[in-house]
Amino acid sequence: MNKIGIFFGTESGTTRLIAKKIFKKLGEDIAAKPLNVNRVAPEEFLQYDALILGTPSYGVGDIPGRAAGCAEANWAEFLPRLDGADFTGKRVALFGLGDQDRYKGRFASSLVHLYRFFYGQGADVVGRWNTEGYEFEHSASVLDGRFVGLVIDQRQQPLLTEPRIDAWVEQVKAPLLELCAEPA
Ligand SMILES: Cc1cc2nc3c(=O)[nH]c(=O)nc-3n(C[C@H](O)[C@H](O)[C@H](O)COP(=O)(O)O)c2cc1C
Repeated sequence: MNKIGIFFGTESGTTRLIAKKIFKKLGEDIAAKPLNVNRVAPEEFLQYDALILGTPSYGVGDIPGRAAGCAEANWAEFLPRLDGADFTGKRVALFGLGDQDRYKGRFASSLVHLYRFFYGQGADVVGRWNTEGYEFEHSASVLDGRFVGLVIDQRQQPLLTEPRIDAWVEQVKAPLLELCAEPA
């Protein structure tokens, strides 16, 4: 069986922490160890048909990376390296971090960039998430009334992180595993 690939970008480590929690919840039999996109070769990323991808929010809801003021390379540096790869037939589940109190006008807004990119490259994006339980004014990552992926606020709602991960992993596990079976 092929595993689910887990990749993240991070500036201060919180998205890595969440990626590790998701990995632990799925278990190493079905998921690969989470990797930082600033240390990954495109071929390593492209070997997976089922992916879980995470990003923090920086800038004014830009895609995180040096142009958004990050010190570390992040998704902004990695996505162009995929060089227009075709994601048709691949399935992607997204998660994003933000701070709904300090950045209530652009809460977790960077996540939508991953959605747009991978959807645009042909991927089936799964794992939409309800906005109930969060308090914010605007997020670019809400489409048709729901977040485009799991949203975690480790600063304002750390106690909700585990239950949110548990519920979301249950939601995305089956659709992702469908693409991990060996072809007959
Ligand atoms: C300079 C700066 C800008 C930020 N901009 C946003 C933002 O626009 N929207 C948001 O929801 N959170 C924003 N945040 C909060 C981070 O996304 C959040 O703390 C996240 O957990 C950081 O993840 P990381 O530790 O993986 O880098 C910002 C934080 C900093 C320090």
